[in-house]
Amino acid sequence: MGIQTLEQFISKQQAQFPNAKGEFTHLLQAISLAAKIVHREVNKAGLADILGKQGKQNVQGEEQQKLDVFADHHFIDALEKVGECCYLASEEHEDGLDLTKQSIYPVGKYMVYFDPLDGSSNIDANVSIGTIFSIYKRVTTDGPLTLEDFEQLGRQQVAAGYVIYGSSTMLVYTTGKGTNGFTLDPSIGEFCLSHPNLRIPSSGKTYSVNESNYNQFSTAIKQYLQYCKEQDKETSRPYSSRYIGSLVADFHRNMIQGGIFLYPDTLAYPDGKLRLMYECNPLAFIAEQAGGRATTGLMPILDIRPQELHQRTPLIIGSDKMVKMVEWFIHEYS
Ligand code: AHG
Ligand code: MN
Ligand code: MN
Ligand code: MN
Repeated sequence: MGIQTLEQFISKQQAQFPNAKGEFTHLLQAISLAAKIVHREVNKAGLADILGKQGKQNVQGEEQQKLDVFADHHFIDALEKVGECCYLASEEHEDGLDLTKQSIYPVGKYMVYFDPLDGSSNIDANVSIGTIFSIYKRVTTDGPLTLEDFEQLGRQQVAAGYVIYGSSTMLVYTTGKGTNGFTLDPSIGEFCLSHPNLRIPSSGKTYSVNESNYNQFSTAIKQYLQYCKEQDKETSRPYSSRYIGSLVADFHRNMIQGGIFLYPDTLAYPDGKLRLMYECNPLAFIAEQAGGRATTGLMPILDIRPQELHQRTPLIIGSDKMVKMVEWFIHEYS
C-alpha cells in the first residue's frame, strides 16, 4: 500500500461523517504544522541559538528552556489562526487563552490543552522530547465559556495525541476510534501513516520510575518495585529499568514494546508531579484506546474531575496487565 499522509488519513476517516464540515481536519492540520516547525528547530538545535535556558521561570516554577518558549509560541499561533478554537491552555502560561474574549481570528468550538515541549530538561543533552495535546469540544454552544466547559472529564476528550521528536519525529493520536501513528518524512514535509491501529502489548519487560524517589514512595509502590526485581521466568522478571525522563519518550516506548511507567506521589509532589490536563489525560485516552490502562493507583485518570488548570496527579500508565498488578499491590497494602 503506498504512503498515506495524515491529511489523506483524516479525510478518509471524515468520509464516514458526511455532515462533518472539516473543522477537526483543520485543527489537526494546525497541530501538524506547529509540530513540523518545532521538529525543524529541534533538529538544528545544536546549530541555532535555540538551546539553553530562557532565563525565566514558568508558572510551575521551572526554569524555562528556549525551546519551551519557541514551541509554546508556535502551537498557540497555529491554533489561534486556524479559527476552530475557543480556548487554548499551555503548561507555560498560568491562565488559558479564552479566544471568545480576545481574538482577531474566527473562534470555533474546540478547547485545546497542551504541553508544548515535554522533557525539556533533556533538550541540551540531545535526548528525545515531545509535545502532548488534548482536545475537547465546548459543552456550551456560544457566549462565554463556563465551568461546565472547563470541568469536562478526560473521558470527554474528542481527541488526544503526542509528537515525539526522537530518532524520527512521530505524531500519535486518537479520536476515540483507536490509536494511529504517523512518521514525518522531512523530504516531503508530510506525516505518513506508519503505525496503523497501535495496540499496547498487554504486558512488557520494562518499568519506568525515578528510583531516586524510592524512599518517598508508599509501601505498596515499594513492594511493587521489589516485585519488578524478583526472578520469575514466567512473567519475564526481573524487568529491565528504563527511565528517559521525558514522559512522551518513556510512554512511546511502552506503546510500542509494552511496559509500565509510574510517577507516584512523593514528598516533593504530594499530588504527583505530572499535570492532569495536558500530560496525564491525553496519554490516558491514547493508552486506553490502544488497549492499555492509566490510573492514579486508586481510580482511572480519565474519571478525575478537573478543578484547576495545572493540577497534578499520580500516574501509573502502560500495559494493561502490568498496571492492574500495581493496583493489586495498592489494594493489598492499603
Ligand atoms: P516538562 O518538561 O513538560 O515540564 O515535563 C517533565 C516531566 C516529564 O516529561 C518527565 O516524565 C518528568 O517530568 C521527569 O520528572 P523527574 O525529573 O522528577 O523524574
Ligand atoms: Mn516544564
Ligand atoms: Mn511535560
Ligand atoms: Mn513541558
